[in-house]
Order: sequence, then C-alpha cells, then structure tokens
Amino acid sequence: MIATSFDSEEFLMQNYSNARTNLEELKERRCTTLHNVNAHTMILHPLLNLKVFDRIIYNFPHAGFMFSEDDDRQIKLHQELVRGFLRNAFDMLTEDGEIHITHKTTHPYSNWKIEKLANEIGLRLLEEVEFSKWDYPSYVNKRGSGSRIDNTFTVGECSTFKFVKPYFAEGSESDDAELSDSTLMALRYIEVADQRKNCR
Ligand SMILES: C[S@@+](CC[C@H](N)C(=O)[O-])C[C@H]1O[C@@H](n2cnc3c(N)ncnc32)[C@H](O)[C@@H]1O
Repeated sequence: MIATSFDSEEFLMQNYSNARTNLEELKERRCTTLHNVNAHTMILHPLLNLKVFDRIIYNFPHAGFMFSEDDDRQIKLHQELVRGFLRNAFDMLTEDGEIHITHKTTHPYSNWKIEKLANEIGLRLLEEVEFSKWDYPSYVNKRGSGSRIDNTFTVGECSTFKFVKPYFAEGSESDDAELSDSTLMALRYIEVADQRKNCR
C-alpha cells in the first residue's frame, strides 16, 4: 500500500497535529509514504510510474478555498482536480481495478458532477455507496488547506463513488511506444505550471 500527500513531509509536520504519529503508524504497518505527489502528474512520479494498483482512493478531493463553494469558478477548480486525478489514475489501474472517490452529495458539491467527469474519461460507475465515517474508527477527515487546515469538517451526506474501466475499453490495446493521454496531460500540466511561475 502507498499513501501519498500533496504537501511535503515538512509541511505536514508543521501543519497537522497528528502528522508524526500517523506517518509513524503507516510505516510500522509497512505502508510506503510519498509526499509532494500531485494528482495531476502522479503518473510521472518515479516511484509510481512503473506500478499498477487495484485500488486508487481519494477521500474528499478539494482544490483549496479560492472562492465560495457555490461559485462556478471554485467548482471548475475542483472539477479540474478530479479530472486530473481520474486521468492519471485510469492509466495506473489494473484492468479490473477500482478508483474510489468519496465526496459530498448535497448542493453545491453535487454540481461537480463526478460521475459525468469519470464518464468523459472513459470510466464507468460500478456503484455509489453511502459513506459513513464511523466505519473507519480512527479516521479524522481534514479541511486540508486554508487557515484552519488541521480542522475537521462535517461530512454530512456523502458517498463513495467506485469507478472501473469498461470491459472492452476502446483503445485499451494501446501502442506501448506512444505516450498515453494521461502522460501527455501530466507533461502539459507541468509545462503550463512552469510558464505561470516564469511569468510571476
Ligand atoms: C478536503 S482535504 C481531504 C484530505 C484527506 N483526503 C481527508 O480525507 O481528510 C483535500 C486534500 O486535497 C489535497 N489536494 C489539493 N490539490 C491537490 C493536488 N493537485 N494533488 C493532490 N492532492 C491535492 C489537499 O492537499 C488536501 O489534503
């Protein structure tokens, strides 16, 4: 099992009260922990790019608090994150593997249209199951950014959406010599991020 974080290990230690004990426990349980892993580019990560997984899980994706949650601009940022994650995860998944996203199902979160985003990438919904925090006794969900980064939040009504590859996905016999769409998207993401940095 590999657990990843977007932030660096140093950032986690500084900003999350339980980071040290959580990371230690994961390591004791022989879980590999990786940091600075961006969902948009994870397929390029040197320790991930030669592996395939039977489950890829992202609980409560969130792109950060730029605008209010019902603002279209904020929803677009969230959708971009989910799209990037799904595109990368698609090509990191075994043929019969599953991608799980746990997400709030009430307004305005329902406007993210998670299932539509997955369908556009060529994934299909296997099932949507109600998510209950109480099934995971020591799990404490976190806001994950902003001034109250270490605070938990009320999950309310939410579901785990389980996505799979269609059985006879078009293009599944891809030419190994060509770069996959997700790799090209990840490279493009880095190129645009670099351009933005240089413009500052
Ligand atoms: C609402 S928090 C959920 C955190 C945790 N999964 C949980 O269940 O408590 C959203 C998380 O998305 C992460 N995130 C934001 N942008 C990301 C990106 N581009 N790639 C990977 N993770 C990202 C943040 O670092 C944050 O930890």
